[in-house]
Amino acid sequence: MVEMKATNITWHPSKVTAEDRAAVTHNRRCIVWLTGLSGCGKSTIAVALEHALISLGHPAYVLDGDNLRHGLNSDLGFSPADRVENIRRAGELARLLADAGLIVIASFISPYAADRQRVRQLMGPDEFIEVFVDAPVEVCERRDPKGLYKKARAAVAAGQPLGFTGVDAPYEVPGHPEIHLRTHEQSAPQSVEKIFNYLRQHGRLLDQE
Ligand code: ADX
Repeated sequence: MVEMKATNITWHPSKVTAEDRAAVTHNRRCIVWLTGLSGCGKSTIAVALEHALISLGHPAYVLDGDNLRHGLNSDLGFSPADRVENIRRAGELARLLADAGLIVIASFISPYAADRQRVRQLMGPDEFIEVFVDAPVEVCERRDPKGLYKKARAAVAAGQPLGFTGVDAPYEVPGHPEIHLRTHEQSAPQSVEKIFNYLRQHGRLLDQE
């Protein structure tokens, strides 16, 4: 937990309730939190899910690790402490966007279970949907869409490790994710459908007249 530095501040409540917003957005607020190794398919699934939701009239927005690191989190690297802060900020941002009525699709490696748990605790019951985007590291490494595994292996061989998740930095597998996707066994559309059906079955998407 980051200690609050400011004093003499209060929380200003809104006059708009969650139900008021849901009537406008046809969503019940939630965060779909995609976690998994680099190259496991998080971004592909996030973008496709966002498109599917928007096409059907459900306001949704992707928060992507790479994208946030271009701006809000451009001061952070990949040390353990920076990763903790990365997920703390991402979680707080996700909470605000969810509060505004969006289905937030967060796509971060988020390798530490405690960080994911802290974000879960920001939300109400059923509002944090942890999705383990699972593929063996060998498969991610074979895909290597950005050539980063190759770089990481070369750096280790040269005795200058980068701390790359799955190579020489840890990934803590989710113990009880709401959804477990195996992207080496199912297609991206199948993964998207699984999340979409979960959202519908758990009352996160409201029918529109
Ligand atoms: S997290 O660990 O802090 O959650 P985040 O999801 O924001 O990571 O960013 C991961 C992306 O950064 C990866 O998709 C990859 O493109 C890139 N990256 C660069 N260096 C590393 C590294 N050392 N470990 C993992 N990903 C890295």
